[in-house]
Amino acid sequence: MNEMAVRAEGLGRTYGTGAVAVDALVEVDLEIESGQFVVLLGPSGSGKTTLLNLVGAIDVPTAGHLEVDGIRLDGLDSEGRTRFRREHVGFVFQFFNLIPTLTALENVQLITELTGRDGSDQARAALEAVGMADRADHFPAALSGGEQQRVAIARAVAKRPRLLLADEPTGALDLETGRRVLDVISRLNRERAMTVLLVTHNAVIAEMADRVIRLRDGRIVADTLNPNPVAADRLEW
Ligand SMILES: Nc1ncnc2c1ncn2[C@@H]1O[C@H](COP(=O)(O)OP(=O)(O)OP(=O)(O)O)[C@@H](O)[C@H]1O
Ligand SMILES: [Mg+2]
Repeated sequence: MNEMAVRAEGLGRTYGTGAVAVDALVEVDLEIESGQFVVLLGPSGSGKTTLLNLVGAIDVPTAGHLEVDGIRLDGLDSEGRTRFRREHVGFVFQFFNLIPTLTALENVQLITELTGRDGSDQARAALEAVGMADRADHFPAALSGGEQQRVAIARAVAKRPRLLLADEPTGALDLETGRRVLDVISRLNRERAMTVLLVTHNAVIAEMADRVIRLRDGRIVADTLNPNPVAADRLEW
């Protein structure tokens, strides 16, 4: 039984080579316990998305070791990375990325069917979990931004991944809507003991995390535990 969701040692990602090389992530050592709610903070260009993409096997490190859910990701081939993504992680992005010609339910089902199991029940259960069951047959255009993001979260967690990776999930939402979305993520974290790694620019959101990691110029510059995380619906910004 592996209690660490993420284990990184000397992790690095350099884009390009020679004079145009960019060190997006430099010698990152990191361990994240299973079930932890971690917020990643840092200015634009500090390497937040780069780290998230490595942990989610969307991208490949150029240095160091990376193990997620007990699976070694550095050195994994593209087929292995695809399998890992399908089985272990859910992604949520800033701009929802729902398919406009499919209903909420169909958007979620699209993902659940990839696993080969009957996706319909799983998809409905996921919509239920984010409070969107009654909008299952609506198209994205008929949903508000926050509702679309909740459908996107349902899609990300329908397969019951051990890890949820969210890159600025409230970046395009107003305060009230953003809180509702964060509340949904927080509840999934607690009820399913799902590890959450959430990227944000907004330091207020960090108050709801178990742990806050700050990046600057591709390095971890602070790593603190929150003794008393604030409930999402009580955040003010
Ligand atoms: N595909 C790429 N090719 C070259 N450089 C890249 C690439 N992706 C990212 N970078 C560079 O790596 C650095 C880190 O980028 P990253 O996207 O991880 O930052 P970020 O912290 O997510 O920023 P933001 O808050 O603006 O989203 C930046 O300097 C960026 O320009
Ligand atoms: Mg980013």
